[in-house]
Amino acid sequence: MAELLKEKLEQKINDWRPRTTKLLKDYGDVKIGEVTIAQAIGGMRGVKGLVTDISYLDPVEGIRFRGYTIPETLEKLPKVPGSNMPYVEGFFYLLLTGDIPTESEVEVVAKEFNKRKQVPNYVIDLLRALPRDTHPMTMLSTAVVAMQRESEFVKEYHNISKHDYWKPTYEDALNLLAKLPSIAAYIYRMKYRGDTIIAPDPNLDMGGNFAHMMGVDKPYDDVSRLYFLLHSDHESGNVSAHAGHLISSALSDIYYSIGGMINGLAGPLHGLANQEVLMWIQGVMDQMDHKIPTEEEMKKFVWDTLNSGQVVPGFGHAVLRQTDPRYMAQREFSLAHLKDDPIFKYVDVLYKVVPPILEEQGKAKNPWPNVDAQSGVIQWHYGVKEYDFYTVLFSVGRALGVCANIIWARALGYPIERPKSLTTDMLEKIVGIK
Ligand SMILES: CC(C)(COP(=O)(O)OP(=O)(O)OC[C@H]1O[C@@H](n2cnc3c(N)ncnc32)[C@H](O)[C@@H]1OP(=O)(O)O)[C@@H](O)C(=O)NCCC(=O)NCCS
Repeated sequence: MAELLKEKLEQKINDWRPRTTKLLKDYGDVKIGEVTIAQAIGGMRGVKGLVTDISYLDPVEGIRFRGYTIPETLEKLPKVPGSNMPYVEGFFYLLLTGDIPTESEVEVVAKEFNKRKQVPNYVIDLLRALPRDTHPMTMLSTAVVAMQRESEFVKEYHNISKHDYWKPTYEDALNLLAKLPSIAAYIYRMKYRGDTIIAPDPNLDMGGNFAHMMGVDKPYDDVSRLYFLLHSDHESGNVSAHAGHLISSALSDIYYSIGGMINGLAGPLHGLANQEVLMWIQGVMDQMDHKIPTEEEMKKFVWDTLNSGQVVPGFGHAVLRQTDPRYMAQREFSLAHLKDDPIFKYVDVLYKVVPPILEEQGKAKNPWPNVDAQSGVIQWHYGVKEYDFYTVLFSVGRALGVCANIIWARALGYPIERPKSLTTDMLEKIVGIK
């Protein structure tokens, strides 16, 4: 008999709590870093001020989910029958518990999601009431925050002890995660497919069902599984994960927190970069009359972009100092499935020409491609050409990691976040120029 996810999690939480308590109680004064003026002014780069066990981002190696690299994660998790890709449900089990699930444990999670996936009618009414040209990220964020009235945490907050906050948070997280793919697909079909909505299929896994509701044939189900997995978590300091964590630290519920996460992801320097990449490539394609540019021609486009003061979207990273393994996983998928796609060829040329140019320009600390440089091309290839929708896909994936983080933050009793600010006057006094 498969272990229920919540029971397994409870056991993990009980085992984990003494570790956090001991660190706090016996070693709370031990220093783990220093903060410079450059860091305080410069977006807190490299400041060690967060703790998460869901994933860790090594600057050179890239992301590990619960200690597993992307290739290990893809290899070890149970696969959907007839597919090379793991269940999103099994991946969520890994994020939450730290363990690779058995097939029957995956089934339990899939059933949990299945029974919670009905989207309330008022969310549909709300989406339909918005002007159709509203950005899909605004639609998604509106839908998520609107469901705040469903929060189990809010209902139970006054009746339970702090120790148990994670339990209704867990319920909220599963309720929301189960609905996100349907909401995303609804927005897509309503906005871009003539309002032809496709009902979910209860027999399909999360990734398969998403592809079904999007109305896109195989292997888009595998694309969805891979996409949600790769975009789920990148430790806690990035804008979307941190926004979710920060909001939740005030004990705002999952709906408010994930709403904030989505709004952070909507910025062009963060999740919206996948839309920006496609827009930028389309511009190049138009100028080239859709002919594949030579490396020399592409170099000129890249320099033109830089010289006009723009960033080259899809390249650079605040932490990574190597090619993003999330980029590589998608590149491998592209080489296997769409290597003759004209846009992939553009991306391939960019892969070769951009890093040396960014190095020559000498500004970006990391000249290598990130996750966003490759993901839009795959979507485009399978007919999802409305690139302002791409960050919605990113949001569905990112919510898996942020929800897992928030459940654990409530379980370990992480307090309300409140870093300290200084004034410019104070900094000048510290360095002796005032
Ligand atoms: C991701 C990103 C926001 C990280 O920012 P960061 O941590 O400040 O990066 P760096 O410390 O390397 O930035 C140093 C300088 O290089 C520039 N730079 C970084 N990446 C660049 C890029 N892809 N193209 C042009 N310039 C870039 C920065 O704008 C900054 O310039 P400034 O000193 O004039 O302000 C940045 O690399 C970027 O804007 N990339 C393009 C957008 C993108 O792909 N975002 C998705 C990330 S997953």
